[in-house]
Amino acid sequence: HRLIRRQRQMCIRDRFKYILNCIMSDSKSILFICLGNICRSPMAEAILAHTLKDTPHNVDSCGTASYHRGESPDNRTVSTLLKNGIKTEHKARQLKQSDFEKFDYLICMDNNNLRNIKDMARRWGVSKDIVDRKVKMFGEWKPKDNNKFGEVVEDPYYGDITDFKTCFDQCSLFCKEFVSREGLL
Ligand code: 4NP
Repeated sequence: HRLIRRQRQMCIRDRFKYILNCIMSDSKSILFICLGNICRSPMAEAILAHTLKDTPHNVDSCGTASYHRGESPDNRTVSTLLKNGIKTEHKARQLKQSDFEKFDYLICMDNNNLRNIKDMARRWGVSKDIVDRKVKMFGEWKPKDNNKFGEVVEDPYYGDITDFKTCFDQCSLFCKEFVSREGLL
C-alpha cells in the first residue's frame, strides 16, 4: 500500500528511479519500541520516516504495553514534531510476534523496554539468534563525541514540554547517526 501510495505521488522519472532503487537497494525495515507507544517511539519513528521519505526503507513503532492501543501520539509529541515541520499519523499498537520476522531492526529506548521485549520473545519462542541480531538499544547510535545525552532515552510522559523537546533532540541526533552508520541514505 505504501509503495502504491508513494508511486501515485511521483512523476514518471521519479517513479522509475524509485522502482529501480527498490530492486537494487537493500531496503530495511526499522521498528522503534517504547512502553506506551505515544511519546518516544512515535517521535523517533516520525523523525526517521521524515529523513528517509524518498527511500524504500520502512519505519514503524510500537509499545511493549497495550494501554494506549489505537490512540494518536501524546499532544506534546505531536506539537514538538510539528514545531520541527514533521507530521505523524501513527496510531499506538503493541509489539507482536510477527514483528521479529518483519523488521530488520527492533530498537528500544530503555532497559525496561529491552527486558520486556526479551521476555515477550522468549514467551513466543522467537530464537535467541534473531533477538541478539535485531533487538538493540537506540543508545547504540549515540555519537561517540556527544556528552549532552545519555544512552537511555528517558520517558518524558510524566514530565513537561521541555522533556519532549529534549527527547526530540536526542532522537534526532541518534537517527542521524543511525542513518549514517547503517548506510541508509
Ligand atoms: P512512552 O511513554 O513509553 O514513551 O510512550 C509512556 C506513555 C504512557 C505511559 C508510560 C510511558 N503510561 O503509563 O500510560
